[in-house]
Amino acid sequence: MPQTIAVLDFGSQFTQVIARRIRECQVYSKIYHYTTPAAQLKADGVTGIIFSGGPQSVYSKQAPHPDRGVFELGVPILGICYGLQLMGHFLGGKVAKGERREYGNGTLEIFGNSELFKGLPKKLKVWNSHGDKLIELPKGFHSVARTENSEYAGIEDSDRRFYAIQFHPEVFHTDRGIEIIRNYLTRICGCKGDWSMSNFIDRKIAEIRETVGKSRVILGLSGGVDSSVAAALIHKAIGKQLTCVFVDNGLLRKDEREHVVDLYKRNFKIDLRVVDASALFLRRLKGVEEPEQKRKIIGRTFVEVFEKSLKSIGKAEFLGQGTLYPDVIESVSIGNNPASLIKSHHNVGGLPARMKLKLLEPLRELFKDEVRAVGTALGLPREVVWRQPFPGPGLGVRVLGDITAEKLAILREADAILHAEMMESGWYWKVWQSFCVFLPVKSVGVIGDERNYAYVIAVRVVESIDAMTADWTRLPYDLLQTISNRITNEVRGVSRVVLDISSKPPATIEWE
Ligand code: XMP
Repeated sequence: MPQTIAVLDFGSQFTQVIARRIRECQVYSKIYHYTTPAAQLKADGVTGIIFSGGPQSVYSKQAPHPDRGVFELGVPILGICYGLQLMGHFLGGKVAKGERREYGNGTLEIFGNSELFKGLPKKLKVWNSHGDKLIELPKGFHSVARTENSEYAGIEDSDRRFYAIQFHPEVFHTDRGIEIIRNYLTRICGCKGDWSMSNFIDRKIAEIRETVGKSRVILGLSGGVDSSVAAALIHKAIGKQLTCVFVDNGLLRKDEREHVVDLYKRNFKIDLRVVDASALFLRRLKGVEEPEQKRKIIGRTFVEVFEKSLKSIGKAEFLGQGTLYPDVIESVSIGNNPASLIKSHHNVGGLPARMKLKLLEPLRELFKDEVRAVGTALGLPREVVWRQPFPGPGLGVRVLGDITAEKLAILREADAILHAEMMESGWYWKVWQSFCVFLPVKSVGVIGDERNYAYVIAVRVVESIDAMTADWTRLPYDLLQTISNRITNEVRGVSRVVLDISSKPPATIEWE
């Protein structure tokens, strides 16, 4: 394993951000629950520890406290925000209940010669969010930075290698915060910065070979980023021992199946089995209008089809999956922590335990941006690595109400036009998602002298960081006009195109 920095999670909404910033410094980070015993951290051989912030007061009844033993491990600790107060509280200082919250930007004034602030100017704009504050230093500590409101905005005991800061270096509102984190990692923890995607690929390939031996691995390929990168990585490790299964559920976009076959079968020479189950899916969805009902049917049918396809492939011991780090982090859920709001219904593919396959999840340690870097290094094209998210139930939740082959065909054509125009203009890469929705209402239009009573297509284009919130994209009018003209002129059965200008919340990204 590479050198590891443990991030002890005390419920901060920024815990994952801290972990990602560490990785940006080419150091491996792992998030641990705040209750993790010191012995465990020792057994894992962590090189340093960071205490995350957290919404609680150290004095509150439910205040999350770490195992005292972490202070005895002899490894450096950096406390951030609540982490600073914890350090003060545990090591004999005094924390006062704040009368008012210090929230937002402040100016940090740095004095002395702390390793933490090496190479930085004496004044920095920093971002604060805390109620309590440290009013008496623990023994052995001295102050190295202050803000307008805190004498002890940066403190340290360099003999024991304990450091703490009141502000958040991990957020973008703090100037040069990443350099503070990097100083901690390299100057204080002595990290070599050996976490890179090419090292990762080499290490994983060896690991996959060792784990799998001569067995076979099955992987359900969706064409999305995660399963594609997992497939490419496993294939590089074990070649023909990997078999991928692609289920055509009849709810795919135009030419999607052909693209998948082209890339993986022809280009990567992966053993890819395509199962055309579109008739079965459409039969089961017939007349079903309710979105959650549709999702259930699609999910269940997928598992059934996938399981059945395995019978014809023969005995396999492993199921490959593109699980990512954010899916496995056991975030501390305290108060209103957005990181704990994991959307379970989005994680389709929970294949039943009765399949008795061992899981092979080579991307479990990675964040999404790292997965993209791995995909690129493995030679996957930009269209796959930077592909927009596409929901598991596919066009099934984009044809509103009941689904028919005719409605799907109309949606597919309209969506292909939108896609082509987004690509042509370069906007595809700038937005989170862009897609069409089929509205089952008819409106009147004219073609030549004829009355055209036909369906309506909604165009949905959004920007987002993580799909939790989203805003509609202000596409140029000219581009919107081209999209609208082309759809109404070229797609039979559509008389009108409308633009969705709703943000999330209160709307969601998908219409169903
Ligand atoms: P909403 O519509 O909840 O979507 O704002 C947030 C993100 O999740 C995707 N999405 C899904 N993905 N199965 C999936 O795999 C689903 O049932 C599903 N519903 C929504 C959506 O495309 C967006 O990126």
